Amino acid sequence: MSKKRFAARWGTDFPMAFLLAAAFAAGSRAHAQTEDQAWLRYAGVQNHPATPALVHALGRGILEQSAVNELNRGLNGSPSADVDDLTNRIVVGTLDEVRAAFPGLQGPAHLAAHGFWLKRTVWHGRPLVIVAGSNEHGALCGAFGLLRRIATGADISHLDAIEAPAMPVRWVDEWDNADGTVTRGYDGRSIFFEGGKVRDDLTEATEYARLLASVGINGCNVNNVNDSAPFLAPDMIKGLARIADAMRPWGVRLAVSVDIASPQKVGGLKTFDPLDPDVKAWWAAKVDEIYQQIPDLAGVTVKADSEGQLGPASYGRSPADAANVLANALAPHGGVVLYRAFVYNNHLDYNNMKADRARAAYDIFHPLDGQFAPNVIVQVKYGPIDFQAEEPVSPLFAGLHKTSEAMELQITQEYLGQQRHLVYLAPLWKEKLDFDLRPENRSTPVKEIIEGKSFNRPFGGMIGVTCVGRDGWLGAPLAMANLYAFGRLAWNPNLSAEQIAAEWTKQTISTDPQVVATVDKMLMQSWQTYVHYTGFLGTQTLTDITGSHYGPNIEASERNGWGQWHRDDAKGIGMDRSVATGTGYAGQYPPALARIYESVATTPEDELLFFHHMPWTYRLQSGKTVIQYVYDIHYQGAEEAAQLGKEWTTLKGKIDSQLFEDERARLEYQAGHAIVWRDAIVQYFFKESGIPDRLGRAGRYPGRLEAEDARLSGYKVIDVAPWEDASGGKAVACDTNSAQKTCTAKWTYTGHTGRFDIAVQYFDLQGGVAHFTLGINGTEIVSWAANDKFPSHAPNGDNSTRFTLRGPDGQGIELKPGDVLLVEGAPDASDPAALDYIEIDPSE
Ligand code: GCU
Repeated sequence: MSKKRFAARWGTDFPMAFLLAAAFAAGSRAHAQTEDQAWLRYAGVQNHPATPALVHALGRGILEQSAVNELNRGLNGSPSADVDDLTNRIVVGTLDEVRAAFPGLQGPAHLAAHGFWLKRTVWHGRPLVIVAGSNEHGALCGAFGLLRRIATGADISHLDAIEAPAMPVRWVDEWDNADGTVTRGYDGRSIFFEGGKVRDDLTEATEYARLLASVGINGCNVNNVNDSAPFLAPDMIKGLARIADAMRPWGVRLAVSVDIASPQKVGGLKTFDPLDPDVKAWWAAKVDEIYQQIPDLAGVTVKADSEGQLGPASYGRSPADAANVLANALAPHGGVVLYRAFVYNNHLDYNNMKADRARAAYDIFHPLDGQFAPNVIVQVKYGPIDFQAEEPVSPLFAGLHKTSEAMELQITQEYLGQQRHLVYLAPLWKEKLDFDLRPENRSTPVKEIIEGKSFNRPFGGMIGVTCVGRDGWLGAPLAMANLYAFGRLAWNPNLSAEQIAAEWTKQTISTDPQVVATVDKMLMQSWQTYVHYTGFLGTQTLTDITGSHYGPNIEASERNGWGQWHRDDAKGIGMDRSVATGTGYAGQYPPALARIYESVATTPEDELLFFHHMPWTYRLQSGKTVIQYVYDIHYQGAEEAAQLGKEWTTLKGKIDSQLFEDERARLEYQAGHAIVWRDAIVQYFFKESGIPDRLGRAGRYPGRLEAEDARLSGYKVIDVAPWEDASGGKAVACDTNSAQKTCTAKWTYTGHTGRFDIAVQYFDLQGGVAHFTLGINGTEIVSWAANDKFPSHAPNGDNSTRFTLRGPDGQGIELKPGDVLLVEGAPDASDPAALDYIEIDPSE
């Protein structure tokens, strides 16, 4: 084939964007990551006319110093050591310090714990801005509160505001392992650990703490809940103390996951039975040892009797028995135990129609209400299964009246596109926080339960599983909106998702109203878009639940012990969780809700299949059958995903160019992967139900030329597993052991003359960097490398991706009948340059 490369000249093509995206990634890796990559850029804040330039701390504590440093950094101010003249200053202090320094100044009599008061006034004829905290930590939160107001363009000329956090526990959980890997982290290695030890350089830990502090997060549990025993070894505790030191200047307290079997695994005792006196003594001594080195340890997190972690069940003891041993050891030091309610049997019997993983947390923890020590907080995932894009609120929130509770959610997008897909999670979290569970038949939104208000509990809070890494915290720049939103909601769950999105965009991207409106619209629609192409009517995820948790794999949830079943067959789909005929899960809710979920007629349709098994032909309120809804919503979802990319394109030239290109390439990928999801689900359930699509789309792909139908040289037809992840279940792959260096697939175009976009759908596998070339009539048009890092070593929906050629200025490629299209694949190592199809779509 003669060589003729247009890609670079065309500019708008994927390769150019790809190169730029690669440059962005390389650039961000070349510099140490900083919190300024997130929302603390303070663009447009500096030298603000309404704020004095001198910043003065009334106290000497480290948190007030951090507050002053931050204000100086944000406002381009300078420290002031002049204690005699406190006019024309921003003054930071505790409320008591402020009262003493400004006698006669009218202010609040009292501030709630960790709250703050911001006041702009005139003192001796000159401007004065007061940042007063209930304590030093409150003052630090106040400094960030002031900066946020300025950065988002609030009028502060008459500022007089009081705030306090809604709930005491506002923690992130990191699932970092001692070897430096991060479980469910998608953004590089641990900022805390490497090679079995705490890292020497903890600069990033400090920077992370600053980022967390800026949104009011006050705790960070640094190690994975799985395999946590090594963290109690003496050397590791010394290292943990260094992490605590690194985070302390920002008021972020360290917490540690502990393994209930540690007395045996670390301490060498014969038992870890929580009621054994030696075990109790071991925990008390270990906790004392930790507090000697980390006097402000916030507490510990426990995962026990779950997914392979040992726990009290080994001795017939309850979670309360285990939690209380730790709680008693921690109580003298003021620490708390976060005991996770994520306890279930992952060896359930699929053939038992009464078996139900969703029941587990309530069945286990509800009977223990009243038995937990006061400093135990039961940490409940927002839904009864596992961080799903759509699942009901856990009934356990309403099932504990004498126990403090925290809601656990995931900032890292384990089941929601792993930061490769844009999914702004605040609307999902808000739905759960605002959900009215009506225990005792009175209004009781989840947020008020976890604030401790509803049942008058001393503690409560929100825990966000974040799993940041060294490659830009969460990797994708827009995913940082989720970390921001988590902190803001834990501080004030009454904020709206829109309000938080607008705050974040203004601080991170631009204050230009068109940019803010566009980004916020994209953020706000992104969760439902993801839901629309990945599942339906409360099925839960249809991903590979026993593997990657990323691409589609519909049968992965079925016929195994994990209990994430959707129970589909030729006739219908869904789990019957009613009391009358199903697993009884619906009955775990307070009566007002139990009644709603018990009946098909009253169950909200977005949860219908979570609660009921329905025939494919059941008609929804819209009049559509369930199966027609499946077809329609997945086509709609894929179109919505493409629309996200189009909306972003309107920001060209209005925002930072690296950010623009980085996100543009991500959204292009997402639109392609949404088609993989759409096709997998549509063709799977079309086959399963045998019911045709009213609009004739299922099983038909206009413009698509399958690789298995091409004239092949070197390429061999393969079955893809799961079959639904490839168009028609088949693809082609080169033999990586063959001497032949390249393989080709050739098609003759038979459609009408016109201009077209040509998409090449291929599998980008780990284990090598295959290369592809697309040619027309013997001329090479473009080539590219399959060098992304998707999960899995076998061709499937995790790594099925597309390259789209749109021609010069996006005008398309001219094709006429008889043109010969050729894809050449060059395998590399174990990547066989596998190819699914090409698709020729009229250029828009
Ligand atoms: C999910 C996740 C696991 C994790 C578990 C948990 O199942 O895939 O990696 O350990 O949640 O919350 O403990």
